[in-house]
Amino acid sequence: MTFDLQEAAKQHLWLHFTRMSAYGAGDIPVIVRGSGPYVYDDHGKRYLDGLSGLFVTMAGHGRTELAEAASKQASELAYFPLWSYAHPAAVALAARLAELAPGDLNRVFFTTSGSEAVESAWKLAKQYFKLRGEYGRYKVLSRDIAYHGTSMGALAITGLADIKSAFEPLPPGGVRVPNTNFYRAPSFAAGSEEEFGVWAADEIERAILREGPDSVACVFLEPVQNSGGCFPPPPGYFQRVRSICDRHGVLLVSDEVICAFGRLGYYFGAERYGYLPDIITFAKGATSGYSPLGGMIVREHLMEPFLSGHSTFLHGVTFAGHPVSAAVALANLDIFEREDLPGNVRAHEGAFRATLEKLSDLPIVGDVRGAGYFYGIELVKDKATKETFDDDECERLLRGFLSHALFDAGLVCRADDRGDPVIQLAPPLICTQEHFDMIEQILRSVLTEAWSRV
Ligand SMILES: Cc1ncc(COP(=O)(O)O)c(C=O)c1O
Repeated sequence: MTFDLQEAAKQHLWLHFTRMSAYGAGDIPVIVRGSGPYVYDDHGKRYLDGLSGLFVTMAGHGRTELAEAASKQASELAYFPLWSYAHPAAVALAARLAELAPGDLNRVFFTTSGSEAVESAWKLAKQYFKLRGEYGRYKVLSRDIAYHGTSMGALAITGLADIKSAFEPLPPGGVRVPNTNFYRAPSFAAGSEEEFGVWAADEIERAILREGPDSVACVFLEPVQNSGGCFPPPPGYFQRVRSICDRHGVLLVSDEVICAFGRLGYYFGAERYGYLPDIITFAKGATSGYSPLGGMIVREHLMEPFLSGHSTFLHGVTFAGHPVSAAVALANLDIFEREDLPGNVRAHEGAFRATLEKLSDLPIVGDVRGAGYFYGIELVKDKATKETFDDDECERLLRGFLSHALFDAGLVCRADDRGDPVIQLAPPLICTQEHFDMIEQILRSVLTEAWSRV
């Protein structure tokens, strides 16, 4: 008897953030292999991976050189912890990341995932301030609708009420500030992006003052906010936030779990927007997904209290900086360098934007926004008034139609309504015009059909 993959998946596998009832009658999509920007299902059908899996597969699928790096490392030293010991791959990777990261972001603490990276950064900020005698600083500011992960600490930083309420009470200290959605800027700040950026940054200062500066440890911001549909920072926003943080002794954490490793055309998003964070958190693209790895890169001054006497950062996880993952990350960075993947994004991002903007002639497309190879397309009911869809319409449109229709048409992307409804795109960094055209054509036909159903 042959193993029935579909039946076994339905009986035993629990998919993440997935309404399992949706698969009572229909099949669970099973992806079996990948090559370049494409993946293939168990029936042999090809899909353009317009989301790099989940913002991960930067170098594309089917890179045997990354598989070989994993195999070589596992044969030599499969595992050893970073608790009191080092291993060559982690050392080399830490040095390489320190070299690539801006300014004096020179110290690397590895994890296995983005949530752990975020959790680690908040814990570091808390312990750092305690060691400095600033005992009251524990709060963390982050933006409305921003996603920073699912572990309890990361969830407290996340700004999405719908995915938090089931798990409350969460660790105390999470404070929300406005995001940088210029399309939906409040009317008093909608005059120009610069004006909007000043307002949004100053809201961070107002929150710090309201909470009491002595109680605030850090601010968590993504260079381009993912959740809500790719909100780029207005010009000058990060510079203003940096000086607000400096004024109040608050640490600035750049959560680059999505935005690092070429997604925005640079190794780090902070580089693109010209600011120096105190901590960068990363994961996803570090290995292009060929093995799991995350971490944080921190500035010298944050390490200083841990360099003398008895002080120890009281934190760690078994698989952090796993030798296989570290070796894969090094090989991944070799590909980045050899093929200049960040340069490819910079060279083609204008064409990507222009191709997606062609969709603006559709009545359902309200806004096309993003940077690099990271775009969101906001869907609206009325373009002139920017009226959005209500909950029932979102349910019918996104879950009932778009998600399946886009996939059936051969495109992996994300139809999301954690904020206003958006389609999100983040293709592998090897993509060029032929792939942008494919994305545009599929979106055009599926969105046209969606509009006829509104
Ligand atoms: C900005 C950001 N931070 C943290 C995370 C959590 O990462 P992980 O799913 O690896 O735990 C994500 C995941 O998408 C993210 O986008």
